[in-house]
Amino acid sequence: MVMPAWHLRDYHDDDLDQAIQIWDQSRLADEHRVFPVSEVMAAAKAGQTAVVAVVGDQLVGMAVAQAFGRRGWILLVALASRWRERGIGSALLAEVERRLRALGVRHVSALLPAGAAGTKALENSGYRFRDDLTYYEKTEPPGTADADALAALGGRILPDGLWDAMAGMEREKEIIERRVVLPLTEPTLADRYGVAPPKAIILFGPPGTGKTSFAKAVASRLGWPFVELFPSRLAADTSEGLAVALREAFADLAELDSVLLFIDEVEEIAGARSGKAVDPGHGVTNELLKLIPVFREHDARLLACATNSVRSLDAAFLRPGRFDYVIPIGPPNPTARAAIWARYLRTCADSVDVGQLVGASELFTPADIEFAARKGAQGAFEREVTQRQGRAATTEDSGRPATTEDYLSAIADTRPTLSTRMIEEFAEDIDTYSRL
Ligand SMILES: Nc1ncnc2c1ncn2[C@@H]1O[C@H](COP(=O)(O)OP(=O)(O)O)[C@@H](O)[C@H]1O
Ligand SMILES: [Mg+2]
Repeated sequence: MVMPAWHLRDYHDDDLDQAIQIWDQSRLADEHRVFPVSEVMAAAKAGQTAVVAVVGDQLVGMAVAQAFGRRGWILLVALASRWRERGIGSALLAEVERRLRALGVRHVSALLPAGAAGTKALENSGYRFRDDLTYYEKTEPPGTADADALAALGGRILPDGLWDAMAGMEREKEIIERRVVLPLTEPTLADRYGVAPPKAIILFGPPGTGKTSFAKAVASRLGWPFVELFPSRLAADTSEGLAVALREAFADLAELDSVLLFIDEVEEIAGARSGKAVDPGHGVTNELLKLIPVFREHDARLLACATNSVRSLDAAFLRPGRFDYVIPIGPPNPTARAAIWARYLRTCADSVDVGQLVGASELFTPADIEFAARKGAQGAFEREVTQRQGRAATTEDSGRPATTEDYLSAIADTRPTLSTRMIEEFAEDIDTYSRL
């Protein structure tokens, strides 16, 4: 059978569909491709260095290159499977090289998956195979692609390690790890067991117990951007205006591949509606109730809402279907307090009786402990400076860290956030509201 003749021409935008089809014919290359479709197509669109081979109006081959100064890179050589071994690959390469030369390129390199359709053509066109090179790559965490969109939303990628930095709180950590983090980091496994990845959670508990820290720690574990929505900063004079601003804030998230959206003190916008026709909070609560189901439709999104007052949330807000889990973040128990003290004592952990501090800081939240630890260290530092009275530090001075007494007096000077009344109420809230 005589094959009809092929010829080369410039790549046009209309060729896109056929080009992708040809590329897809080589599954192998597809799995290991170095340059993603979007990058190759961007280069094809941008320059004079994309050439296709056609038979009639059928596209049978394509080569794309890009010039960087005197260096040119072949990004793609693809051939329709029926049209291999006919010299089309070499012809495409020769044409692309000619165009690269015209742009000042003197050295052409190609980086193709091993065994890709184009490797034969390269070998036939005088390219030297180099098996002494190793290819390295690094991919930014998802969501960073659009750094501008993220910055516009006031979002950021948080550092690694925030999860490990959460001291104690073993019970909370275990629940959040199992229910929230693992289904999102192990989606295939979760799917096999029929576990739906969580889309929205509420963290509730007294102030300073670590709700914000946990939300950030989850974003850090997932490698997702963290965006905090501040209802008070949504510019609006009226409740309708606020509802619109809220809707726009949610719509802006569409630009991100993945995101953990955090709303602190959510009772401010989802507080119980009074039932009065003119209740100013009404429209906003309704708007948020409508936005959550839409938010839930997207993958790689997690809404985390925090509240100190779960009992003042609107009942409709808490109904199943909107939030997957309603998780209590409680006051630290003695073990957790010991871990938190140890974390903040750092250098002088050996010289201080942590057990005494734990006993003396019973109604303390992690935030209170952080504050008292700082105060204790500051007290010791000031004493040292006073005693030294202007003398410069010598190595002998370095052996006097803060003592147990320094910390005990700092504790005595710190007003605990918690009260027995709050702890009782929290226990009631756990019974009434928590959903794990
Ligand atoms: N488990 C913890 N270990 C160490 N420090 C903690 C822990 N939980 C909270 N903190 C510290 O306490 C402070 C208050 O925590 P935060 O997350 O803002 O509490 P909340 O959001 O519940 O009010 C933060 O400075 C945080 O670093
Ligand atoms: Mg907080």
